[in-house]
Amino acid sequence: MADPARSDALVWDAAVRLHHWLLAGLVIFCSIQDDGGLVHRIAGYAAASAVVTRLLWAVFAKGHGSLAALKPSAAAVVAYVRGRAPRCIGHDPLGLWMVWLLWSLVLLLGLTGWMSRLDIFWGDERLQEIHAWLADALLVAVALHLLGVGGMSWWWRENLAAAMVSGRKRGPPA
Ligand code: HEM
Ligand code: HEM
Repeated sequence: MADPARSDALVWDAAVRLHHWLLAGLVIFCSIQDDGGLVHRIAGYAAASAVVTRLLWAVFAKGHGSLAALKPSAAAVVAYVRGRAPRCIGHDPLGLWMVWLLWSLVLLLGLTGWMSRLDIFWGDERLQEIHAWLADALLVAVALHLLGVGGMSWWWRENLAAAMVSGRKRGPPA
């Protein structure tokens, strides 16, 4: 008989997965189409809205996508690193800080993009410079995110990217 403890568990619900790939696509799009034109601005606002929607969803979601599962903790990071990064079925404590960094940068890009076009900042280049700087920081954060996903997939012998597509991971945490 199949052991229910070994069967695949649904870790990322459809809303979390849809949000993830939509956000990734919009961030990549804004980074390539970076002229600040109408299409860039619409895609940028859509990215910021996707983050807000994800946070609202976290309030209602159960399990690994919920607000409770998104609470970062420095103590948990220390325990996790000391324990030589044991397998986590949801976000690992270190990766959780990266999740918040990615979301914060996207929200700040939306804010600075909007502010840079306000009349009171007419002729002032500083907001555009901050916007460009935030966009660079986001690209660095995404690169680290991909390194983290790749590294932990190797460490845990588990395809984490595939789990963000199917939503499923094998069995409960070790
Ligand atoms: C994920 C969100 C976003 C990303 C990744 C992003 C990224 C970028 C990048 C890479 C540039 C080129 C910076 C440079 O000159 O080197 C840029 C320019 C610009 N962005 Fe965004 N952006 C985002 C959202 C927005 C939003 C929501 C607005 C809303 C108005 C906006 C308005 C602009 C404008 C006006 C420029 C042109 C600035 C200039 O003339 O130099 N962006 N953005
Ligand atoms: C611009 C590109 C990307 C951005 C902005 C981004 C952002 C994020 C965010 C915010 C989360 C947290 C998801 C949530 O809890 O709702 C996340 C998780 C995740 N992302 Fe990405 N992502 C990007 C690209 C990618 C790519 C290309 C892959 C696959 C190779 C990937 C794989 C994952 C995985 C596997 C997780 C879950 C991590 C875990 O198991 O803890 N991401 N990403």
